Amino acid sequence: MERSGNDQDRTAVVVPSAQVRQSSRVKDYDALRREAERDPVKFWEDRAKELAWYAPWDKALDDSNPPFYKWFVGGKTNIILNALDRHQATATRNKLAFIWEGESGEIRTLSFFALNREVCQFANVLKSMGVHKGDRVTIYLPRILELPIAMLACAKIGAVHSVVYGGFSVEALGERIQDSESKVLITADGGFMRGKTVPLKSIADQALERAGTVEHVIVVRRTREPVSMEPGRDYFYDELMGLPIAKAVGATRCATEVMDAEDPLFLLYTSGTTGKPKAIVHTHGGYQVGIATTMNYAFDVRPEDRYWCAADPGWITGHSYIVYAPLILGMTSLIYEGAPTYPYPDRWWKIVEKQGISILYAAPTAIRGLMRFGEAWPNRHDLTSLRLLGTVGEPINPEAWRWYHRVIGGERCPIIDTWWQTETGSFMICPVPSFDLKPGSATKPFPGIGAQVLREDGTPAGPGEEGKLVITAPWPSMLRGIYKNPERYVEQYWSTFPGKYLTGDAARVDEDGYFWIIGRMDDVLKVSGYRLGTAEVESALVSHPAVSEAAVIGIPHEVKGNAIRAFVILRAGRAPSPELNEELIKHVATEMGPIARPEKIEFVTALPKTRSGKIMRRLLKARAMGLPEGDVSTLED
Ligand code: PRX
Repeated sequence: MERSGNDQDRTAVVVPSAQVRQSSRVKDYDALRREAERDPVKFWEDRAKELAWYAPWDKALDDSNPPFYKWFVGGKTNIILNALDRHQATATRNKLAFIWEGESGEIRTLSFFALNREVCQFANVLKSMGVHKGDRVTIYLPRILELPIAMLACAKIGAVHSVVYGGFSVEALGERIQDSESKVLITADGGFMRGKTVPLKSIADQALERAGTVEHVIVVRRTREPVSMEPGRDYFYDELMGLPIAKAVGATRCATEVMDAEDPLFLLYTSGTTGKPKAIVHTHGGYQVGIATTMNYAFDVRPEDRYWCAADPGWITGHSYIVYAPLILGMTSLIYEGAPTYPYPDRWWKIVEKQGISILYAAPTAIRGLMRFGEAWPNRHDLTSLRLLGTVGEPINPEAWRWYHRVIGGERCPIIDTWWQTETGSFMICPVPSFDLKPGSATKPFPGIGAQVLREDGTPAGPGEEGKLVITAPWPSMLRGIYKNPERYVEQYWSTFPGKYLTGDAARVDEDGYFWIIGRMDDVLKVSGYRLGTAEVESALVSHPAVSEAAVIGIPHEVKGNAIRAFVILRAGRAPSPELNEELIKHVATEMGPIARPEKIEFVTALPKTRSGKIMRRLLKARAMGLPEGDVSTLED
């Protein structure tokens, strides 16, 4: 129900229906928040006690060496104990953990029992290949069930997984394998997307030529297209799973490795301000507490839910809210392999209807993309099974919010706009269903999370004033650092405002304390919700022999949020041409992946730089968009 306002009116409030209020498990959210404010560490400690541990912790938060915070110090656990093991002794064992739908319509389901069996078998395979606790394993798979299975099998034996999104390509994959020094690579012959196949194994082979640490490659057969297999290095997943090691009596069991709460669970590469992506480190102990608590409250999880997070398991959203949190909470969740518009723009709505989805969690870019095709597509499906809608990845514009709320949610479903990051591990700013909502605002910090908007000088911005979004105190699912780079961790996140975590986002807080995220303040781009560094795309361009220099900016785009615009200076002797333009776009797609493809390349003879030689992307953007150029006093020429 709407009280007032239009898209421009930031005071418009959508209050939950009496039905939502009544059925909501968290009745007095403010009381919960006050409890958490009084003693955030105790709040998280109490939540941690709701999970299983092999041995309790001595100290909930060790803040003796900031910003290297530690949570649940001395506690023994393994996220698998909570995600799989403890369900084997309850009725959840017989519940579906995953329903998978392939792009061509085939269905595969796994109960918690069956998932555990497959994970144990695969864990035994990994062990037989010499993967030990602490070893890194790179996973480069399409959206198939072997992706969560591989992640879970690594976690089970204490290996550290590094999932590389299946849409990335040669250079992006190669440098992630190299940096993580992975021993094993798990990939597939290929994947299906929009009815076509993506040759993952051949991309992986090229990446492996550039990265030298991998001893074994495990190949899941998905497309069944022929691939080259290097004897002694490459093995098919199904053949390994058919071996005595995985099939023998007892091979369907595998002891879960007892881990310290602070032992690493995974690395996940993400983009920052430099050309080199950085690996964010998350741990077994605090991470499970953060993701399970936030999901449980924000989505008001119930046993009868059928949940669908439409993100890719290869991104943090998938790690936290497709794989680990839903399993910890014993939920049934759906994974769909393909494109939202394949073969028609009602594919998503068809799945919701057919599978009786009750919670849908999706990115604004996907919502905007589907909105474009009109209401007739969703309207031809019964979407009444939905009770809650979520969004993540970028600010949702009020127009898309309202469409999602009215057309998909039938004005019944609260929209849970969750603001968070790869680094934060779990939701940081988001409502719960009983909350009064404002379209476009992620509302307020989650209980136990302190968020603030600061001015340059570190003082708090006033109501409505734009500033830098920071998190004011450590939280359990926080990143534990950047892999092999503690200096960059301190420098990038903790040095602008000492003692406070710098998110990189600009935001404002309104008179009611609602947070409005404006977007990134650094050289990070959000393209269709994917996080890319301008420097990464630039370095992909410069790796082409015709290019001498490149600068990349994001231009606002109706569906994608941002589209990539590149400015390129050619080497002497090379002249601009439509063919070269095409070639450069293709080159970026092969090096980084199709998501990084520039929408437009402009050939230029000079780039605006500061006197210290830094490209002034801000100026390029202002010029490209016909906006005022602002302060140009540092411009060299
Ligand atoms: O700019 C914010 C935006 O996504 C960034 C984090 O990207 P990534 O690490 O890829 O994680 C995305 C999935 C958690 C943030 O710095 N962002 C994420 N969620 C929202 C958002 N911006 C506005 N509203 C959101 N709900």
